[in-house]
Amino acid sequence: MQLPSLDMPSFPPGWVWLVGAGPGDPGLLTLHAVNALNQADAVIYDALVGEEILRCAPQGAVLEYAGKRGGKPSPKQRDISLRLIELARQGKRVLRLKGGDPFVFGRGAEEALALREAGIPFRVIPGISAGIGGLAYAGIPLTHRDTNSCVTFLTGHNASGEVPESLDWEAMVRASPVLVIYMAIKHLDRLVAKLRHAGLSDERPAALVSHATLPGMRVLTTTLGRAADDARAAGIEPPALFVIGEVVALRAAIGAGDPSAQPSPASCLATG
Ligand SMILES: C[S@@+](CC[C@H](N)C(=O)[O-])C[C@H]1O[C@@H](n2cnc3c(N)ncnc32)[C@H](O)[C@@H]1O
Repeated sequence: MQLPSLDMPSFPPGWVWLVGAGPGDPGLLTLHAVNALNQADAVIYDALVGEEILRCAPQGAVLEYAGKRGGKPSPKQRDISLRLIELARQGKRVLRLKGGDPFVFGRGAEEALALREAGIPFRVIPGISAGIGGLAYAGIPLTHRDTNSCVTFLTGHNASGEVPESLDWEAMVRASPVLVIYMAIKHLDRLVAKLRHAGLSDERPAALVSHATLPGMRVLTTTLGRAADDARAAGIEPPALFVIGEVVALRAAIGAGDPSAQPSPASCLATG
């Protein structure tokens, strides 16, 4: 598909562009992301970036996987950063492609700092984060004036894979009527226990949204108290978001269709 002719930047050799690919549906790539893909010499991509998106890279581009594979540990962050630096020093246009937005629970900041330290020029191209685009596809609004003027995004596990202990759970629950938890499946029982202990009612509406924006998207609406059992019974698997708040109840009233039933065409997009 030819996009309207826009004045898009050229990708200089020796640069690294840290690019967000959005939550999965190729139609949620930004024009900047497509423009970057069209020009890249090397694409270093994460687990949640689909094949249709990678097809936007030129035929001769090197595609390197840098995500988690089959339960094995992910490549060390330092090794990924060093690889970006190495490729840039070879004069390649290096595209670091991440699911969602590179600066939202995506280690983009660590890579940007490593590039800065190594003196490699880079730019950051934001993407639609799963917690925003994914929930919209699921028909769950993040805000409504009657329910909340604040949303909190948090991760279900920290760098060492544990539920973040440094969070002030009571304060967070008091302050934020809507919580969106990334990477929530591994510790779902413990997260639910933390939230209940922090004062949230078992009856608080909640939902799990897995493979959001993709053809296999699943939306499970439940309550905080039932969430872990319902997720197990339904076989909800990562990648998934766990959202807790009255906005979940609006899903039924909004009656959103399932846009993932009509995914964007898988053919590659081209700018220019
Ligand atoms: C390492 S984080 C990366 C987040 C990403 N940078 C973003 O902005 O969306 C991975 C987590 O994002 C969430 N996620 C990413 N893509 C998703 C999708 N298509 N459906 C549901 N959750 C998704 C899941 O919670 C997953 O465990």
